[in-house]
This record gives sequence, C-alpha cells and structure tokens, in this order.
Amino acid sequence: MQVLETITQVRAARSAFPTLGLVPTMGFLHEGHLSLVRRAKAECGAVAVSIFVNPTQFGPTEDLARYPRDLARDLALLEGAGGDLVFTPSAAEIYPKGFASRIEVEGVTAPLEGAARPGHFAGVATVVAKLFNIVQPTRAYFGQKDAQQAVVISRMAADLDMPVQVVVADTVREADGLALSSRNVYLGPAERAAAPTLFRALSRARALFEGGERDAETLRASVREVIAHEPRFEVDYVSVASPDTLEELGRVGEAALVSLAARLGRTRLIDNVLVGRPRA
Ligand code: PAJ
Repeated sequence: MQVLETITQVRAARSAFPTLGLVPTMGFLHEGHLSLVRRAKAECGAVAVSIFVNPTQFGPTEDLARYPRDLARDLALLEGAGGDLVFTPSAAEIYPKGFASRIEVEGVTAPLEGAARPGHFAGVATVVAKLFNIVQPTRAYFGQKDAQQAVVISRMAADLDMPVQVVVADTVREADGLALSSRNVYLGPAERAAAPTLFRALSRARALFEGGERDAETLRASVREVIAHEPRFEVDYVSVASPDTLEELGRVGEAALVSLAARLGRTRLIDNVLVGRPRA
C-alpha cells in the first residue's frame, strides 16, 4: 500500500493500474468506509482511498476544528482492507494559493442538507471533482448514508461527462440500527443509547409503506411520532422525497427517499431509508 501526499505522486502511481476504484473519505474510518473499500477492490482489482478533511464543505459554525482524526489507525485499517493507494493531501496541496474555482450543482443541492448547510455541497462537489481529476478512477464509491451527497455527485458526473462510474452502496449500521458515522464518537453514553431511535423511526415509515401507505405526509408524521418519544432529539427535517430529484412528494409512487436530520446535544445526525427500491 502506497501512502502519497502530492498530486504528482498520485499521477505517477496511477498508471500502474488499468482499472482503479476510488473511495473519497475524510478519515476516522469505520466499517461503512471499509465496506466501500472492499467493494471497490473486488470490482476494480485495485483501490485508492483519499483521506482529506475538506475545509470548504464545513460551515463557519461547524465541527471542522474538532472533526476526529487518526491517520495511523486509518492506514492500518486500509492495509487490512486491501488498499493500494492512499492519498493524504494537505489543504495547501488541494487549495493552493490563487485557487478560485467552484462547482455548483443546482436543484438537488437546494433542499435538506443543502438548506441546512449553505455552501456545503459546493465544497463537496468541488473537492470530489478534483479527486476524480487527480486519481482518474474507473469507478468511485459513495455511501447511501449520505443520500443527497450521492445524488449530487451522480448529477455532477453525468452533467459534466466525467469519465467515471459513480457507485452508491448500502448504509452499514450498528447492530442496534444506528448508521455508522465518524461523528458518532461525539455522542455521550445517554445520547448513544438514544441514537438508534432515528433508524427505528425510519423503519416505521418503511413498514407503513410496505403495508400500502402512499401518503407522504402520513409517512413523515410517523417518523416524527417515533422520534418524539425520545425528548433528547431536536428534529431539523423529516423528508419523503423523490430519490432522484429530492423534491418532496405528496403521494409516493414507486419509490421514495425517507430522510431526516436531528440534533442530539451538540451532534447533528442524518440517516435515511429508500422505500420501494432496493438499497437500505
Ligand atoms: P465521509 O463522511 O468520511 O464519508 C466517506 C464515504 O463513506 C461517503 O461516501 C459516505 O457516504 C460513506 N459512508 C459514511 N458512513 C457510511 C455508512 N454507515 N455506510 C456506508 N457508507 C458510509 O462523505 C464524505 O466523507 C465527504 O463529504 C467526501 C465525499 C469525502 C468529500 O469530502
């Protein structure tokens, strides 16, 4: 496994691999990340992983400074998962003096996380476009955990004819249903105990959908009702939207993305389930 810090090094190493998967991450890796790495390795024969806490996707009041980091541990995990290249650039390598470009994906960035976190998806789209250009992967792997991010990246790659296949993989969860996230380390014991309520709430909506319920507002209300049993939560949004356009639905047709964001103390958690379409 090669650990590389510069774009020049990555370009030189890239040529050894006829097909290469890319898993962009911000590090502090967990089984969600590693499942993407293993899938990329299996499907592409070789996998590059980027570890970069991208400052431009954090708002001024967000957790950039305290975002958890442990590079030594990450590298050991990637070695075990079959990593071939690991790209660990500095902020100056990615955003050198004079950097002035930005990718704005319109429409799908407006609601949900985009509304709650102004500028977030421009930061994500721009850094991911740069990573695509630097690594030139055959396929790039993203998690359904960040459903809107996956939609935004897919839209960007299609709109800009980027020669990469975007793959979106299932959310990996703890045994109690909590979606794995680097930010889960922020949770105190009581918060950690409360956190699985989110997936229980989403599962209630899924059960109602599978029982034939197609009224989106009824599904939203069912999610809110389950979360309300846990007074520690402050709900940001509960959404039942088109999985492709992210527009809120009145009635659910074939499929919907049921997603939510909620605060638990100082920690903001997001989660979602797709109903009517495979992929949890
Ligand atoms: P990060 O939060 O580190 O996540 C890296 C990738 O892992 C993303 O595609 C995310 O959706 C996926 N992931 C996180 N938790 C997961 C889980 N429980 N199950 C499955 N996949 C999971 O997302 C980012 O970093 C950044 O925005 C990035 C794309 C790297 C751009 O900076």
